Amino acid sequence: MIIDTHVHYDDEAFDADREELLQSLAEAGVGRVIDIGSTAESLDKVVVLTERYDFVYGAVGLHPDEVGDLTDEVIKKLEVYINNPKIVAIGEIGLDYYWNKEAHDLQARAFRTQIKIAQENGKPIVIHSREAAADTLAIVTEMYGKGSAGEKTERKGVMHCYSYSPEMAEIYTKKLGFYLGIGGVVTYKNARKLVETVERTPMEYLLLETDCPYLSPVPFRGKRNSSRNLPYVVSRIAEIKGISCEEVIRITEENAKRLFFPEK
Ligand code: NI
Repeated sequence: MIIDTHVHYDDEAFDADREELLQSLAEAGVGRVIDIGSTAESLDKVVVLTERYDFVYGAVGLHPDEVGDLTDEVIKKLEVYINNPKIVAIGEIGLDYYWNKEAHDLQARAFRTQIKIAQENGKPIVIHSREAAADTLAIVTEMYGKGSAGEKTERKGVMHCYSYSPEMAEIYTKKLGFYLGIGGVVTYKNARKLVETVERTPMEYLLLETDCPYLSPVPFRGKRNSSRNLPYVVSRIAEIKGISCEEVIRITEENAKRLFFPEK
């Protein structure tokens, strides 16, 4: 089965047809999705979705653009929600210097605070990092690298929508033990760097994701995305790796289970 490791079905873009769309995922081969928190108000919605649908799991956390809202009350909420059996990770958390909505030191502090919640509760993290390559790697190394508190953590996390160099990908995967989330961007004509990353990274480190409603693959680029479009990403990865689509689905499913669903 296809596991979509990064969706935002709580988004208002799905208000008109959420039920119908979610019920149609199974026939598209999508067996499980992880709905990812972003804003403070998304957190309750993520949990509600995981309660309503068997195949919907969740992650809770504040996106770097939203960390002005990381109050003591929200931190408490994360600490409660992370122990819900259907909540499998803390995320999406990280650094975003593209939108630059929050000060860099505040972003870094919130990133560390949320990583600690994950580590204390034995859960992996979902990292959002945009135009912040050096600072993200520094914090992840500090929290999970050699000699750190998180070094021995078995299930560390994923670099969602990986967009940096193939060389840096090697550090995240082989050295730090993180996975890379691969989505619609890999089908774009100008995705040379990402294609090279997929080429050079062993399949064992790749996860499928949409980031829907964003980042639709070709031929739906610019339209609302959903997990139903993942077969386009699967076939592009299969083409790059020279393996079958079935292999891509099988290996990414094993990877997602290893990281997010150790007992399921
Ligand atoms: Ni996202």
